[in-house]
Amino acid sequence: MAILEVRNLTHFFGGLRAVFKFDLALQEGEVLGLIGPNGAGKTTVFNLVSGFYHPTEGDICFRGNEIVRLRPHEVTALGMARTFQNIRLWNTLTVFENLCISQHSKLGYGILGTIFRSRGFRTSERCIRKTAEEILDILSLRHYANEYPKNLPYGLQRRIEIGRALAMRPHLLMLDEPAAGMNPGEVDQLIELITWIRDKFQLTIWLIEHHMRVVMNICERIVVLDFGETIAQGTPEEIRQDPRVIQAYLGDADSIDA
Ligand SMILES: Nc1ncnc2c1ncn2[C@@H]1O[C@H](COP(=O)(O)OP(=O)(O)OP(=O)(O)O)[C@@H](O)[C@H]1O
Ligand SMILES: [Mg+2]
Repeated sequence: MAILEVRNLTHFFGGLRAVFKFDLALQEGEVLGLIGPNGAGKTTVFNLVSGFYHPTEGDICFRGNEIVRLRPHEVTALGMARTFQNIRLWNTLTVFENLCISQHSKLGYGILGTIFRSRGFRTSERCIRKTAEEILDILSLRHYANEYPKNLPYGLQRRIEIGRALAMRPHLLMLDEPAAGMNPGEVDQLIELITWIRDKFQLTIWLIEHHMRVVMNICERIVVLDFGETIAQGTPEEIRQDPRVIQAYLGDADSIDA
């Protein structure tokens, strides 16, 4: 069953055609890769699907809901969470607080409940702290719980971002270049982590990545964008051998160290 269906998604920035007639049916439980050269439109697709931009044209259906005009927090509430190519963490909050604050979009106790610390508020706060504690353990972040993200290495900040997204207990997790800036050891850990997360939480994962070892190892299917258009899709093996993909993006396919 498709958890996400995108039809004819098109987006212009002024005269620039960033995404053109993009179609996708993402199956529940699938790990899908989205690859392509710099400026191909990958992040724009994520921004359109997660409500940060509204497309010039097209439809998006997520878990049976038409979401094309929804705002990011409304999409999040339906069970979609994402990370950002440029890490977005609260640097004035600790790692633990970052994991807590991300969950507030799902709270339902309202402003009066907050002021008077109603029972609903207290229960929700307990639940939030418990989830954040779990994420600290799952992502091996406990040691850094009271640190500020900006003082931590880049690879760790990326892991915290994944934690922030996971804390929202999403059905669909979208990762925009999670391996960017990671050293080879961190990349190995990331490959293990994403596979483990998918199995443990039975999530659907959609991943943008330039790091071919990550893409080829964990994605079941890959979609390739070039100048805003899908030029190929298939299994890692099919993509690796696709002449159009090699020409537009992969170059010498033998150099992929997967
Ligand atoms: N907010 C914006 N305003 C104007 N143009 C934009 C905006 N965001 C992206 N673009 C342009 O749209 C095109 C697609 O950009 P996008 O960031 O989606 O590419 P990408 O595939 O994610 O690239 P990269 O691999 O470098 O992250 C590029 O030409 C980019 O310059
Ligand atoms: Mg991008």
